[in-house]
Amino acid sequence: MNTTLAPRPAATVNASRVDLYMPIHKAMRNFMADTLLRVGRIDVFDDEDMHQALVQLDELLHFCTAHIRHENEFIHPAIESQMPTGASRTAEDHDTHIESIEVLHNQALALRAARPESRGTLAQRLYRHLALFIAENHQHMHVEETSNNAVLWSHYADDDLREVQCRLLDTLAPAEHLRMARWMVPALSPAERAGFMSGLQARMAPDAFQAVLDTVQPHLDSSGWIKLMRALGRTAIVKYA
Ligand SMILES: [Fe+2]
Repeated sequence: MNTTLAPRPAATVNASRVDLYMPIHKAMRNFMADTLLRVGRIDVFDDEDMHQALVQLDELLHFCTAHIRHENEFIHPAIESQMPTGASRTAEDHDTHIESIEVLHNQALALRAARPESRGTLAQRLYRHLALFIAENHQHMHVEETSNNAVLWSHYADDDLREVQCRLLDTLAPAEHLRMARWMVPALSPAERAGFMSGLQARMAPDAFQAVLDTVQPHLDSSGWIKLMRALGRTAIVKYA
């Protein structure tokens, strides 16, 4: 894939439009970067440390698989109903990503099963291949956020895009909402975070929304938490470790 950052006709962003990709892609970038670092510092001679790192990797790979399914089922049809084959490039990328996820799963299993003296080599292999998978995903997400968004924005009003987003979000189980919020909310700017969480607050039952707040608070600094509480019309209680 072309890695140049030179401007291209479709490589534009529009912060004033509803962006189906931006919030979840910020979550993906956060989750991917954190997991790459976590895998890179595995202590292969500490079974519990290695287990914790591989659990996080497993969660990331499940998250990526679900994300691909959501885009294939909700966003690509929206694009291709207006522009046949308009999503073919990113759909082909998704097929490649599914294959890469399977490879990474198998390499993680091999590491889990290995004798201690073999683990170092296998951990390095897993770390390098995870880095390549993440690099490819960063290229892919850029295409979605520019070229795919250009198609969506030229054919749909913001209300139409919100309707697609709501249909997608309604398919998520409560645990999936929490995992998404854990990685998305800390990755958003304060203004983006306020908008996203205000929308959730309006759509979710109070107990369920409180669970989201409890999930994200440990991952926000006190300044970010106070700004979020103000935006939601709540009193900020900062927890100190
Ligand atoms: Fe994608």
